[in-house]
Amino acid sequence: MTARGIRGRLLSFLREPRGAGDSESYRYVNDGLVVVKDGRIEAAGAASELLSTLPADAPIEHYPDALIMPGFIDPHIHYPQTQVIASYGAQLLEWLEKFTFVEEQKFADPGHAARNAEFFLDELARNGTTTACAYCSAHPASAEALFAAAHRRNAGMIAGTAIMNRNGPPGLLEPAREAIAASRDLIRRWHGTGRQRYAVTPRFAITSTGEQLAEAGALLVEFPTVLMQTHLDENKNEIETVKRLFPDEPSYTAVYGRFGLLGPRSLLGHCIHLDDDEVALLRETGSVAVFCPTSNLFIGSGLFNYKRLASAGVRIALATDVGGGTSYSMLRTAAEAYKVMQLQGQNLPALLAFDLITRGNAAAVGLAGEIGVITPGAYADLVVLDARSTPAMAHRMEITRDLEEELFVLMTMGDDRAVRQTYIAGKPALAA
Ligand code: GUN
Ligand code: ZN
Repeated sequence: MTARGIRGRLLSFLREPRGAGDSESYRYVNDGLVVVKDGRIEAAGAASELLSTLPADAPIEHYPDALIMPGFIDPHIHYPQTQVIASYGAQLLEWLEKFTFVEEQKFADPGHAARNAEFFLDELARNGTTTACAYCSAHPASAEALFAAAHRRNAGMIAGTAIMNRNGPPGLLEPAREAIAASRDLIRRWHGTGRQRYAVTPRFAITSTGEQLAEAGALLVEFPTVLMQTHLDENKNEIETVKRLFPDEPSYTAVYGRFGLLGPRSLLGHCIHLDDDEVALLRETGSVAVFCPTSNLFIGSGLFNYKRLASAGVRIALATDVGGGTSYSMLRTAAEAYKVMQLQGQNLPALLAFDLITRGNAAAVGLAGEIGVITPGAYADLVVLDARSTPAMAHRMEITRDLEEELFVLMTMGDDRAVRQTYIAGKPALAA
């Protein structure tokens, strides 16, 4: 395949910023060029140096004022919840029963799953998200539909069918009866097929027996490169229920530890109401706490304490959690993260937010160097961002002094309208 060039203002993070103003944490090239070949980045740097390396007939897309960044990564999202988003008036357990389990049962129909998988992937691309770690429904065919659709687009998705065997409607528990065998089958078919990867997905401790959680843990031993995703310490009633179901365990986090579900490949959504021992357990095991601000505010779950977990050495990722979350946009998600932190007297510098949703989330899902950065060898998954995409943003940008302030405008006011283009493995995903 011939090379192509994507030209504009390049921004990619090298490491986690230590705070606002940490200009050593990123690489910025004002007139930059990304050279793409066979879906990967061949070179990235100053256009003045790289333009002459492109073959004369290579197409070049030029975005003079736009920022070109690595595509966003959403490490916690539910693809069967595209019609659960914006469900009124309930907190977690009631919200699950009243809205979520109802919609997820519809994924027994493979046609419904296929249509929703295409919608989901379109919507991610429109928002500049190039990789997501997605929960599927309890029906293995729902995971099959998502993987097949993502594979056709050469989009790198991580997904798993939700494992559950109690405390849910028969419509979800019955297909999940063979959940472990079905997960194993899906891992064999899809984990490492093209860009697809598998995440073993016990929904949460309430919907699985200890026996099933142990079987999920055994899958992680059997397949040492698959990920694990579940929910943890999101809501007070949820935590009380887990205590009743697992009376011998000292904490909710300990339940997952007991069944081999903690570790560097484990993504734990929410982590709001942790006690000190639970924080220590997350740190010791290298597990990832996934901060889902729009969801935590919308479902009324509580405030994620970023500073407490970061200073304890817990790995942190940032995600939408659609349909508990209210936006597919990682920009909106960063804006809400900022507000959740403000409510606790903390700050989220724009540099840290953009590092989190690119390089940081890539590291969280075990794909450091593959995605989330603009460096040779990485997939050419890119987002082209326009900080003047609305009149209000353009007006605000008139007095913006530097890159960091531009990033803060983007995360505070930006959404899908700020996404001019999204490249997936070097190919434009949006109609020009
Ligand atoms: N806990 C168990 N399942 C879910 C879910 O679908 N969404 C959220 N936010 N929390 C959960
Ligand atoms: Zn979730």
